[in-house]
Amino acid sequence: MENIIGKQFMEMTKYKYLEPSLQSQGAPWPELKSPLPEGAEVIDLPAGKSLKLDKLDFINLVEKRETFRSYTDENLTLQELAYLLWGTQGVKSILTEKPVTKRTVPSAGSRHAFETYMLINRVEGLKPGLYRYLALDHQLARLPAPQDIWEVLTEACQKQAHVKKSAVTFFWVAVQQRMTWRYCQRGYRYMYLDAGHVGQNLYLLAEAIGCGVCAIAAYDDDLVNAALSVDGVEQFAIYIATLGKRPK
Ligand SMILES: Cc1cc2nc3c(=O)[nH]c(=O)nc-3n(C[C@H](O)[C@H](O)[C@H](O)COP(=O)(O)O)c2cc1C
Repeated sequence: MENIIGKQFMEMTKYKYLEPSLQSQGAPWPELKSPLPEGAEVIDLPAGKSLKLDKLDFINLVEKRETFRSYTDENLTLQELAYLLWGTQGVKSILTEKPVTKRTVPSAGSRHAFETYMLINRVEGLKPGLYRYLALDHQLARLPAPQDIWEVLTEACQKQAHVKKSAVTFFWVAVQQRMTWRYCQRGYRYMYLDAGHVGQNLYLLAEAIGCGVCAIAAYDDDLVNAALSVDGVEQFAIYIATLGKRPK
């Protein structure tokens, strides 16, 4: 039988099929952040904008951007990681009356449904392991993870070796209710659109600090979600990217 799920998705997420949203039914505004698991260790980050960059020619950065998969062994500094996190998910302000965050990337209805997970391999001052960015507090949380998390996540990304050879591999997890609370099933489209902005910011920010990036969509959803301890329905990995220094 022909699998037409993609066509059905495009059809059934048209406005005419949408049911009344949770928001329109008076459900409370979703939380802006996910709770931390027990045993997480919280680490302060330097300010996202503290990194001093040479004067950059923006159009040149855009032109130079390309996918890069073979990184050097050089470490990233903590300041560079903070800059990358700030530039991809950083919170510029919080409108407390709703509440809503305004960030360095756009998001449909400013719903900002993502949590940023990282497999950190080479960042000065950080033990290698699994981390999450706490965007609202601009902090990191080191998460409990099994010893073989590198092998598990590499295997889950169809054996793409740059996942474990990167300085950092980013995993963006969508918390669907933050988006579907307003946009119902159409919100799934918006989460994928939002993910593209995050990925592109990472590519361009990386270019400015001598790093390369490779976006990854070829991954086993179930294996990645299990490794990140998300259920794959309420929360699921939506986009992945490896990053590391380029040879000089
Ligand atoms: C949504 C998306 C998914 C991708 N998935 C992978 C991937 O799983 N593995 C990989 O090596 N490259 C992946 N890429 C990188 C593309 O292959 C790359 O962007 C493309 O070849 C164009 O090259 P350029 O980025 O250097 O312009 C992906 C890119 C995008 C935008």
